[in-house]
Amino acid sequence: MIQRGHIRKENKVNVKDKVILITGGAGGLGSEMGKLLSKNGAKVCLLDIDADRGEETLKAMAEEGLTATFYKIDLTSEDNWKAVVQTVLETFGRIDVLINNAGINIRKPVEEMSFDEWNTMMRVNTGSTFLGTKAVLPVMKEQKGGAIINTSSVCGLIGHKYTPEAYTASKGAITMFTKAIASRYGCFGVRCNSIHPSTVMTPLVEKMLQDPQRAAERLGEVPLGRLATSDDVAQAVLYLCSEEASFINGVSMPIDGGVTCY
Ligand SMILES: NC(=O)c1ccc[n+]([C@@H]2O[C@H](COP(=O)([O-])OP(=O)(O)OC[C@H]3O[C@@H](n4cnc5c(N)ncnc54)[C@H](O)[C@@H]3O)[C@@H](O)[C@H]2O)c1
Repeated sequence: MIQRGHIRKENKVNVKDKVILITGGAGGLGSEMGKLLSKNGAKVCLLDIDADRGEETLKAMAEEGLTATFYKIDLTSEDNWKAVVQTVLETFGRIDVLINNAGINIRKPVEEMSFDEWNTMMRVNTGSTFLGTKAVLPVMKEQKGGAIINTSSVCGLIGHKYTPEAYTASKGAITMFTKAIASRYGCFGVRCNSIHPSTVMTPLVEKMLQDPQRAAERLGEVPLGRLATSDDVAQAVLYLCSEEASFINGVSMPIDGGVTCY
């Protein structure tokens, strides 16, 4: 497997004191984003339904001298969103960035999937993105600025034969929702962009790659010859949150080593 080619120097992008909400903030990618943003001086708010995992994330951050605030929320509840946004405003006074990152994947092809399962995928992946965006837009309009970053997937850009169709449909909807928000709310100083990671190397994926056939399938589709890391994804998010990305609006940014180039 081709390794990463260089050691990164200190990041220079500016997110200092930005109040940044991350949904799925206790999860694999969300917690990595939280760490990197906190390291760069942001005021990080982790939003997740899993309070135990949230606690573990805060502990792991504290061990690195980093801080964040955890909010327990069901992202599919509009009332929960209203309550959390209210509490964040009372605590921090503003919301600079929302990262709609939480997502689920019911791993079944369309012929085996029930309509309830389809609806669950849409409610969590696409519905939470809609509700989060709806909850913060009035705040960002009032502030005359803000940024929203939506975690889609390579499956929000291409059909992918190893991925459930419902997941692809939910992520494709996020891609176009992002562009629609970017075009309507840009005039209020609100930027909206989506990120499109390919498969990220996690302990579960590492185990899957022990099967030579699956490893050949998964690595064979990546021109750069390796899977993404959670740090690859967090670094892209750090940039999109920053002042340096102030003219980047409506972009669908693949973080995929070239998977979507074919
Ligand atoms: N890991 C990958 O390979 C990969 C690749 C491309 C895109 N993505 C996308 O990245 C995002 C994060 O993925 P991850 O790998 O970190 O997943 P993860 O399962 O580790 O984290 C997702 C988090 O979302 C939370 N969550 C789910 N439903 C919720 C709800 N209703 N209310 C509140 N919280 C809820 C979970 O508790 C969990 O902590 C997802 O949108 C996923 O589709 C992941």
